[in-house]
Amino acid sequence: MSMPAEEGQLLSMLLSLINAKKTIEIGVYTGYSLLTTALALPKEGQIVAIDIEKSYYEIGLPFIQRAGVENKINFIEGAAIPTLDKMIQEIKEDDLFDFAFVDADKLNYKEYHEHLLKLVKVGGVIAYDNTLWSGSVAVPIDPSDPEEFIEVRNYQVKFNDFLAVDSRIEISQVCIGDGLTICRRII
Ligand SMILES: C[S@@+](CC[C@H](N)C(=O)[O-])C[C@H]1O[C@@H](n2cnc3c(N)ncnc32)[C@H](O)[C@@H]1O
Repeated sequence: MSMPAEEGQLLSMLLSLINAKKTIEIGVYTGYSLLTTALALPKEGQIVAIDIEKSYYEIGLPFIQRAGVENKINFIEGAAIPTLDKMIQEIKEDDLFDFAFVDADKLNYKEYHEHLLKLVKVGGVIAYDNTLWSGSVAVPIDPSDPEEFIEVRNYQVKFNDFLAVDSRIEISQVCIGDGLTICRRII
């Protein structure tokens, strides 16, 4: 479930390059990408980390504590969409986020995109994990694959097409891990 180390390195580099200070993570699991993010942010950095299941986060928490970065993390247990809805209601223009990383339920990516475009500032970055879905998006459907796998594959094909023509962002889809689409908000 966790991203591979080379993707963590890229994430870390990206955060440094854009001088990210405020980030959102959707889908924490045991906190590998979260720890990577926390280590890449400056001392005053802040991450809103959302996961529907806190017990996974608690497995990785001792490592986050040992790394001395727990103070940068505001973990919110809950489904991401209602949490983002609340954040949109409360956020002020000056407080918009620099970066968001999405790695939760794959069939909601379009919804996450619309929400995050209201929370991430112009010039900020939204990164979507698993957009190659084991490479399946680039080849015909394999009917021997499980139904749920094919459902996500079909969704990701449409989501990739959607991002490619979304004029609010520019994108780069990177063949790393299971595929990472990096979107920069331009309007
Ligand atoms: C692939 S794992 C995240 C891995 C993590 N980003 C990493 O690379 O270390 C996906 C996580 O998304 C969470 N999740 C699934 N559906 C969710 C939802 N609707 N809202 C918030 N979190 C959700 C799961 O509980 C799981 O921990």
